[in-house]
Amino acid sequence: MLIFAIESSHDDTSFALLKDNKSIWMKTFSQTEVHKKYGGTVPEIASRLHVKNIGLLIEELKKQININSIDYIAYTKEPGLIGSLHVGYVVANSIALIINKPILDLNHLEGHFYSAFIEKEVEYPALGLLISGGHSQLMLYSSKNNYVLLGETQDDAVGEVYDKVARKLNLGFPGGPLIDQIWEKNKNKYQEIFTIPKTSKELDFSFSGIKTHVINLINTSLNRKEKININKIATEFQNTIVAYLKEHMVKAINIYKPKCVALIGGVSANKAIREMFLKLHKNVYLPKLEYTTDNAMMIARLAYEKIKKG
Ligand code: KG4
Ligand code: ZN
Repeated sequence: MLIFAIESSHDDTSFALLKDNKSIWMKTFSQTEVHKKYGGTVPEIASRLHVKNIGLLIEELKKQININSIDYIAYTKEPGLIGSLHVGYVVANSIALIINKPILDLNHLEGHFYSAFIEKEVEYPALGLLISGGHSQLMLYSSKNNYVLLGETQDDAVGEVYDKVARKLNLGFPGGPLIDQIWEKNKNKYQEIFTIPKTSKELDFSFSGIKTHVINLINTSLNRKEKININKIATEFQNTIVAYLKEHMVKAINIYKPKCVALIGGVSANKAIREMFLKLHKNVYLPKLEYTTDNAMMIARLAYEKIKKG
């Protein structure tokens, strides 16, 4: 069963081929460098670049296979930037019409969940922590067609907070990897954490308080004309995020007793969060780094799960 998938929901244009559950080929064009100078994604620019990049990807795809050998086409239907999603929708449907094969319109967040299971099988019930630039949520799959959101952020996403804190510290964009590098060098020196937020539903998240705390620390230093200790603030910020995510995972594991746990989304590249996660459960799944950010292989893997018997 050869699955061809397209992902274009945000700022990555990605094509992938998956044969049964074996990855065959993937190519992704990232727009990060372009959006960097604006400090975030500009939707209109993203749509235009998708149009350009998807044409290049079609040429690449034709070099890989005869498109008539594709058995199923999958693409990201939602959620995402509407102009970006539309490019994937049009191309996926056009190819499906030309080769007369079935099409699966899939959910991007579910795709993220399966990014940890490329070339692997899921043992249900499975608990996933999705942390990305746009989302932060705990997902519980009791079977492949059955998932509930145990909790989600009530304000900013984890990656968004990383990017905002990094901007306030003048570190650059995207902020996550930069803060992570500072943490790596300073983790033994600064081990404090800020106050852990509380939400009315205990498995929901709220990250805006942590962000405000950092902004207040910086403003206080500026008012007092003190030098801002970037290393200390960045390291303690990351310590706090790790402690907060851990607290939620421990609670959810105790309540729902999953057979496996998965860490997914762009922020799952974070060293400290990965380290913490590996100690949580005897069956931990982490995506390969190339599958942590938006990519079409995860959409193909989700399609495979939907199509396969059992
Ligand atoms: O999944 P993704 O591509 O975002 C969405 O499109 O939603 O992830 C991007 C986010 C950015 O906010 C970036 O700062 C963050 O993931 N990120 C990290 C790390 N690498 C990327 N955050 C913390 N630590 C990292 N090592
Ligand atoms: Zn994503």
